[in-house]
Amino acid sequence: MTEFKPLVFSGVQPTGNLHLGNYLGAIRKFVALQENNDCIYCVVDLHALTAQLVHEDMATQIRSITAAFLAAGIDPKKHIVFNQSQVPQHAELAWIFNCVARIGWMNRMTQFKDKAGKDREQASLGLYAYPSLMAADILVYRATHVPVGEDQKQHLELARDIAMKFNLDFHDKIKPTGLGIDIKVGEEPVHAYFPMVEPLIDGPAPRVMSLKDGTKKMSKSDPSDLSRINLMDDPDAISKKIRKAKTDPDALPSETEGLKGRPEADNLVGIFAALADKSKADVLSEFGGQQFSVFKPALIDLAVAALGPINAEMRRLMEDPGHIDAVLRDGGERARTRAEKTMNEVRDIIGFVR
Ligand code: TYM
Repeated sequence: MTEFKPLVFSGVQPTGNLHLGNYLGAIRKFVALQENNDCIYCVVDLHALTAQLVHEDMATQIRSITAAFLAAGIDPKKHIVFNQSQVPQHAELAWIFNCVARIGWMNRMTQFKDKAGKDREQASLGLYAYPSLMAADILVYRATHVPVGEDQKQHLELARDIAMKFNLDFHDKIKPTGLGIDIKVGEEPVHAYFPMVEPLIDGPAPRVMSLKDGTKKMSKSDPSDLSRINLMDDPDAISKKIRKAKTDPDALPSETEGLKGRPEADNLVGIFAALADKSKADVLSEFGGQQFSVFKPALIDLAVAALGPINAEMRRLMEDPGHIDAVLRDGGERARTRAEKTMNEVRDIIGFVR
C-alpha cells in the first residue's frame, strides 16, 4: 500500500497579539517539525475576515505573525511561509468543499457556536464556512500532518470527513486518473485523492489556560490582558503576569495525579513543562512539595529566557516590513505552484473543462 508523502501544514490567524497558547500549542511545534519534514506555514488572512470584516491594521497583523514565525526559528527558505490571500486556490477548493460538507456537519462545530454567540443570525456566512476553508488550506497541498492546539481538533476531524466524502463521491473519477493512492481507513481500503490528515496535538500544553481562570482557554479575545502572556510582552510584564497568576494555597504535588481538580496548578506546570521541553511528571519530581512562591520565580526565569529572544527578534524584523513582504511573496509563489497542481487534478476529477 502506498502512502501520501508526509507534509506538514498549519495556519495562524492575523488577529490580535500572539500569546503563549499560540506559541506552545502551535508555533513551537512548527519549529520542531521543520527539522525532519517538508513544512508549509500560513498566515490565514482570509480566515481573519470571518468574525470581523474591516481590520484597520491588517497588513501589520500579517507581518507581525510572519515575524513571529521567523523569530521563533522557522526557515522560510527550506520551508514555505506565506499569507493565504496570495494563493487564491485555497478559496477555490473551499468552494468545492462547501459543496462536499453537509450543513449538519457544520452545525456541530462548537467553535462556530462559541464565536457566533447568542445572535447567530448576525454571524457571517464566512464564519459558518470557516472550517471548510480550513480543510481546503490543508488539502490543497494534500498535507498529511497538522500541528495545532486542542481547540482545533474538531475542525481537523471535519477536514477528514470532507476528504473522505470527496474520495468516496468521486471514486469512479479518481481511480481511472491514477491520481489517487490506496490507503487504509480503519479496516477499509479506500482509493483516495485526499489524505486523512493527522492532527498533532500532543505535548504538555495542548490547551494553555487563562492565568486568571484555569478553566478558561488563554485567548486573544479575553478582555483582561493579565489573563495571557503575549509574545510581545517585555520581561517586566511577563514577570508581573506570572506573579499575579491565580493559584491555590496548596504546595505542588509530587505526581501528576495530584493536579486533578487544581486547574491553575495544572496549567502552570504544563506551561513550565512545555517551555523546558520536559513532561509534567519531570517538573513535579523537581518541584513536588514546593510552594508557588518557589515555583513562580523559576517559571518567570524560564518564560523570560524563552520569550525574550523571540520578542527582540520580532521587534527587529518588524522594522523592515519590506523584508517580511519579500518572504511572503516568495513563499506565496512557491505555494501557488503546488496548489495549482492540486487544483488542476481536482478540476480534472470533477470534469471541469480547462
Ligand atoms: P488561531 O489563529 O486561533 O490559533 C493559532 C494556533 O494556536 C493554537 N492555540 C492554542 N494552543 C494552546 N492553548 C491555547 N490557549 C491556544 N490558543 C490558540 C490554535 O489551536 C492554533 O493551532 N483555525 C485556526 C487557523 C487555521 C488553521 C488552518 C490551522 C486556519 N487554517 C489549517 C491549521 C490548519 C485558528 O483559528 O488558529
